[in-house]
Amino acid sequence: MSITTPATEATAAREGYFGAFGGQYVPEALSGALTQLVDAWHDAEHDPAFASELDDLRRSYGGRPTPLYRAGRLSEEAGVEVWLKREDLAHTGSHKLNNVVGQALLTRRMGKPRVIAETGAGQHGVATATAAALFGLECTVYMGAEDCRRQRLNVVRMQLLGAEVVPVESGTRTLKDAINEAMRDWVTNVDSTHYLIGSAMGPHPFPTIVRELQKVISIEAKEQFALQAGGVPDAVIACVGGGSNAIGSFADWIAVEGVELIGIEAAGEGVGSGRSAATISEGREAVLHGSRSIALVDEDGQVRPAHSVSAGLDYPGVGPEHAHLATSGRGTYLSATDDDALLGFRRTCELEGIIPALEPAHAVGWLLRHGHDHLGDGARVILTMSGRGDKDVDEVVEVAGWDVGVAKAFGTDRSEPTDNDRSEP
Ligand SMILES: Cc1ncc(COP(=O)(O)O)c(C=O)c1O
Repeated sequence: MSITTPATEATAAREGYFGAFGGQYVPEALSGALTQLVDAWHDAEHDPAFASELDDLRRSYGGRPTPLYRAGRLSEEAGVEVWLKREDLAHTGSHKLNNVVGQALLTRRMGKPRVIAETGAGQHGVATATAAALFGLECTVYMGAEDCRRQRLNVVRMQLLGAEVVPVESGTRTLKDAINEAMRDWVTNVDSTHYLIGSAMGPHPFPTIVRELQKVISIEAKEQFALQAGGVPDAVIACVGGGSNAIGSFADWIAVEGVELIGIEAAGEGVGSGRSAATISEGREAVLHGSRSIALVDEDGQVRPAHSVSAGLDYPGVGPEHAHLATSGRGTYLSATDDDALLGFRRTCELEGIIPALEPAHAVGWLLRHGHDHLGDGARVILTMSGRGDKDVDEVVEVAGWDVGVAKAFGTDRSEPTDNDRSEP
């Protein structure tokens, strides 16, 4: 294990530190690949041809810019003015493609024929499989077996796109375990393979690369808000798993005073319940998956299992820049329970005609229940609608139990006896 600690502020930025968090905590076998990636990113960042190809792909293939939409009925219910940044309308149905297209271009620059990825909700896996098809790359996606079950639609989508999906049976069979398996594959196949990490986490330079590639969300939103609403919002709100949609939503606002940056983590059955994924609220400083950040760990430093109804937020860690924004006070990190998320899911459907992914439904649920108290009268907010919820429909019907009509149509309603359950008179 090689451990990097920042000597000065200048080296800190170069080595991928955000305050005390970040760095590269990896086996020696990966050092060469990470150095190659640092160099490839440095070259690409300074190459106008890279920027131009990325921009063209984002527009002509990815469907950018995504709209900023004033959600009138949701605003009325929340008591604050809500503008949704519609990443759900991007190609593949979430923000994940922003990062993937950029890293796929880097993969080509490094001359590697294969990509691997981890996925929780399946959205990053789908985005990676999509880019692999587009660029003619071999693609393997690791996904916890529990997540394969609850996000089945995305498993089929990845397979249709030509990716091999490997269900991971270890641990809690969720995102953390999928990352462990992807890391193992990478160590073994590092010469031929780029590990296309899907969130703003992992060893340097991934948190920086992913932030820069997702920053397009806040760059667009800033311009759109000024044009459509005027001025700047009081707050920008995004859900936080590993932290890629949130850091992309915050990045261009960090230097703008007076705009509160609110990250909403998944609190599962509640903070302190033992069944939560609210890493910043409940966690401690720790090294997880290649960088120093905050993680859910017990007194012996062992990673605690996380829980969330949403597979994309069901992760016991968080990207290092969020740990820094939280500890420095620039960011506000709060949480929403499974129940809040289900409320956010249902009301976004009913009030706006938008079926949201369960991940951003956490941000909506928090806003509906706590937004007005937190932000006050007349507040205007941008909320990143990071993905669409087709993938979650089955799980919501299964878990929530409130939508009996839909459940009947799906044949999954267990609230009424079936013919088989009825005893003969
Ligand atoms: C739609 C959506 N939003 C948010 C997330 C959480 O990831 P991140 O925190 O990296 O944005 C996921 C993860 O799969 C997702 O699919």
